[in-house]
Amino acid sequence: MREKKLSLLLIFISILIFFSCNKQENSMVKKELFGTLQNGENIYSYTLTNKSGMSATIINYGATVVKLKVPDKNGNIEDVILGYDSLSGYVNGASYFGGIVGRYGNRIAKGKFTLDGKEYQLPTNNGQNSLHGGTIGFNKRVWQAKELEGENPALQLTYVSPDGEEGYPGTLTLTVTYTLTDKNGLEINYKATTDKPTILNPTNHCYFNLSGDPNNTILNEVLMINADKFTPVDSTLIPTGQLEDVANTPMDFRKPTEIGERINDDFQQLKYAGGYDHNWVLNNYNGSVREGVTAYDSTSGIFMEVLTDQPGVQFYTGNFLDGKDRGKDGIYYKFRTGFCLECQHFPDSPNQKDFPSVVLRPGETYTQTTIYEFSVK
Ligand code: GLA
Repeated sequence: MREKKLSLLLIFISILIFFSCNKQENSMVKKELFGTLQNGENIYSYTLTNKSGMSATIINYGATVVKLKVPDKNGNIEDVILGYDSLSGYVNGASYFGGIVGRYGNRIAKGKFTLDGKEYQLPTNNGQNSLHGGTIGFNKRVWQAKELEGENPALQLTYVSPDGEEGYPGTLTLTVTYTLTDKNGLEINYKATTDKPTILNPTNHCYFNLSGDPNNTILNEVLMINADKFTPVDSTLIPTGQLEDVANTPMDFRKPTEIGERINDDFQQLKYAGGYDHNWVLNNYNGSVREGVTAYDSTSGIFMEVLTDQPGVQFYTGNFLDGKDRGKDGIYYKFRTGFCLECQHFPDSPNQKDFPSVVLRPGETYTQTTIYEFSVK
């Protein structure tokens, strides 16, 4: 009798062990210590892995994507984004690698805007303009992370930006959820509310190099942007307010074209920015998610599709990378070795009455969905 009880107990314990081990294996979010801030606060990395072996590693500093690993045409797993090996890189860096930028992604002319008759002055950190949320933007803040239970591995990050932070009115609560989909997509969902009228334009600032080797430039990668128009800028990269046709200019990416094919053309817009650093007006803006951009590297075979519900995309070719930033694996990131596709509202929208509005009021909820989806060709 005693023996029977004992063996029943043993069976029960083995079943328990079996299920807990299995849970470990299926658990698709792995949390690890990433680094410690000077104030002693620990920052963690969360690696989301899906069934086909794609993974995204995100830290709760800046809600930053630090690694994005996707299969290439030979089945090798390649990291397709730029970044740093350690936390200090992200703390000291000025390139916004992989982070969520905000409260206002991209530029606001002279750091000034008027909302409901009141003028606000933001810090100017890009010549005379305010860029990517000011001196300490969302990419330099500590976010609260929460692993989500569900079919797909997901991580939710929340940041509460106090009223008046970096000059912006209203306490803003922003939640960014990263999900790895079965279709090898990194889906980014944004949600925000405020307690006073404010402006908001968050985006993700990943730098892609689809060859998987950032020693290569991105000039041979082939890009398609589904946009008939772009917003031309002045010499400080502030939109003039016009929407200009891309037809017959180096800004026309409606047919897949190598990034480097026309980047050095004698075209004033390219001269102002030292390459591409402009906002394209994505076609068919109606609030739903549609294909905006595709990019392809023929050496790795990696093909990326960008789907978004945003009106615009800032395509930036890493013109400010100068070989001084020591990135992952000790690689120094040289001129044009990464490109960004920042899905967002148009730059300087608060000062352009004809651009779609970026105002968020109490009682409203801001949402955005953007997906970077990978396959091979
Ligand atoms: C955006 C801007 C660029 C540059 C980068 C970061 O893409 O439009 O001008 O500031 O971010 O270096």
